[in-house]
Amino acid sequence: MRVMGIETSCDETAVAVVEAPPGDGSLGEPVGRILANVVYSQIAEHRRFGGVVPEIAARAHLERIDGLVTEALAEAGLELADLDGIAATGGPGLIGGVMVGVMTAKAIAFAHDKPFLAVNHLEGHALSVRLTEPVAFPYLLLLVSGGHCQLLTVRGPGDFTRLGTTIDDAVGECFDKTAKLLGLGSPGGPAVEQAAKGGDDRRFALPRPMWRKPGCDFSFSGLKTAVRQTVEKLPKDDAQAVADLCASFQRTVGDVLIDRCGNALATAPHDTLVVAGGVAANIYLRGRLETLGVRLVAPPIRLCTDNGAMIAWAGIERLRLGMVDDLDFAPRPRWPLDPGVRMGQQP
Ligand code: KG4
Ligand code: ZN
Repeated sequence: MRVMGIETSCDETAVAVVEAPPGDGSLGEPVGRILANVVYSQIAEHRRFGGVVPEIAARAHLERIDGLVTEALAEAGLELADLDGIAATGGPGLIGGVMVGVMTAKAIAFAHDKPFLAVNHLEGHALSVRLTEPVAFPYLLLLVSGGHCQLLTVRGPGDFTRLGTTIDDAVGECFDKTAKLLGLGSPGGPAVEQAAKGGDDRRFALPRPMWRKPGCDFSFSGLKTAVRQTVEKLPKDDAQAVADLCASFQRTVGDVLIDRCGNALATAPHDTLVVAGGVAANIYLRGRLETLGVRLVAPPIRLCTDNGAMIAWAGIERLRLGMVDDLDFAPRPRWPLDPGVRMGQQP
């Protein structure tokens, strides 16, 4: 089974082709093969605005998408007719970009009479680990990205129970803000991780919101404010102080993630913890999560940040179960993974 995955929900235009072996994955058997995985990052186009500009993102997706589809097919050595399905991120995300990906996938699916699969971007992250590792359902998922911070039980495609979420900011956003305040550039996560390497993680005592409180929710706005106040008092041109603050910040985030995951495992025991989303690329945080006493599995680093392969893989998991979408699917700016979650709450 070969599926194309298209991802356009934020500032990466990405197309991939993934092949799945026979079997339905129910025994946790391996795993997919990435035949092509092309990612065009728009980061340079947004840099001078200090953040992602939705209209610029949508236009850039539109300009690139056809070329990337052609490039991915060439890399895979396939034609559209060889595919078994076309998957695209159907939300949540910046709606102009999501529309570009969904329209492209629908057009290909219609023209070549292939199944169309609308994939929840968060489900793409949530299932991505099974593309490269034999991990059976159910597992506990810590989903940490630029827009989300959630703990979920993952039982299968479309089958999630949310245990906790952030009540304000996402953890990746907090990394990005810290990097921006320290002039480390974007994306902030890798820059902070790099700078933290030579730092003293005990130099700055930062608040650990929600730490040792009951439940599995997160909060990061207080930490963001504390970082800003600390940066304002930092001596100028002091690289050691920057390194120390990055290390202290990262340790604080690690403390909070461990505490929240510990609560989740206590209330809903699982033998496997999966960490996914852009922040899962952080090696220090992975090391901290390994101390929780359950098996920790993470996707390879290049599959942690947004990419088409995770959308193709989620498409394969859906296609195996016959969860195909109609061509009248409407892109969704908000789309919670757990439909039990009340509207108005963070998706
Ligand atoms: O999953 P992703 O590519 O996009 C969203 O769906 O949000 O995540 C991007 C986020 C950014 O905030 C970025 O700074 C963060 O992931 N990130 C990291 C690392 N690499 C990317 N955060 C911490 N450490 C990293 N190495
Ligand atoms: Zn993402």
